[in-house]
Amino acid sequence: MSAPSGRPSMLISRSLPTDAVVRARARAEVDVNEADAPLPRNELIRRLQGRQGLVCMISEAVDEELLAACPDLKVASNVAVGFNNIDVAAATRHGVVVTNTPDVLTETTADFAWTLLMAIARRVVEADRYVRDGKFDEWKNMLLLGGDIHGKTLGIVGFGRIGRAMARRAQGFGMRVFYQDAVAADPATERELRASRTDIATLLKESDFVTLHTPLLPETRHLINAQSLKTMKKTAYLINASRGPVVDEAALAQALKEGWIAGAGIDVFEDEPTVHPGLLGLPNAVLSPHIGSASWETRLRMANLAVDNCLAVLEGRTPPTPVNAEALARR
Ligand code: DGY
Repeated sequence: MSAPSGRPSMLISRSLPTDAVVRARARAEVDVNEADAPLPRNELIRRLQGRQGLVCMISEAVDEELLAACPDLKVASNVAVGFNNIDVAAATRHGVVVTNTPDVLTETTADFAWTLLMAIARRVVEADRYVRDGKFDEWKNMLLLGGDIHGKTLGIVGFGRIGRAMARRAQGFGMRVFYQDAVAADPATERELRASRTDIATLLKESDFVTLHTPLLPETRHLINAQSLKTMKKTAYLINASRGPVVDEAALAQALKEGWIAGAGIDVFEDEPTVHPGLLGLPNAVLSPHIGSASWETRLRMANLAVDNCLAVLEGRTPPTPVNAEALARR
């Protein structure tokens, strides 16, 4: 069913950059939740009635219940590269195409993961607080000493686009790079990025920085737990800009408090927006509110790509970045 205008109809679940909304409105009837906050679940389902397209964010669970309640839905277009908020198998069963926004956020997310890495190693947040608290009364030789980055070993867990972008940055710092991934990169990529594949145990034991770039899957949930944290060097740092549940947050809080590792830069949490209380008071954790891809340019690119994906399905074209090609084939 299309809108009375004969144009397809979509819901944008929460605020997007204006240019992306204008782009959508040029070709479809568009209902937008203007707030940068999720719609209550029942309102989301109500506003989806009779609409074929949903542009959604990681805050919306697109699951069996929603799919069954919205029979006109043809596409769920996530404004994110990760899509663990969407039950892709259920969507495929309902003939709903799922799309995401890969590539456009790779460099921005790697920039931010690198920012966390540098901030925690060189104690930038602690230093800022020290100055603002009026404690900078004289230069001190042993004040706020941190860890070096150049020449150290970086362990990358998950060697997809963002993991590889981290390896490129590591070259500028003269680092040795290990990666762990179910799939080996081709030899030319390994040579170009000067990265060697290893198992997770060796990576954790050898790395000065461990950075996580794996999707959240049943096998990556709590990949970093008490046992793995204990195998890391006491001087090592953990960076997580992937998905919160990849790390057992209670174990991380204990590890940081008891000095099993030196520090952590964490952008994502197990039960967002809740943060484990044990992390909040720790000086050796730099915490940020899931903003890895949050630059003006990238958030606009992600929104435009999500709108283009949605419009493509609604207009009977192949979307630029589908997740479930099976559902496409069925259309
Ligand atoms: C992603 O793209 O998966 C981010 O986590 C959301 O911005």
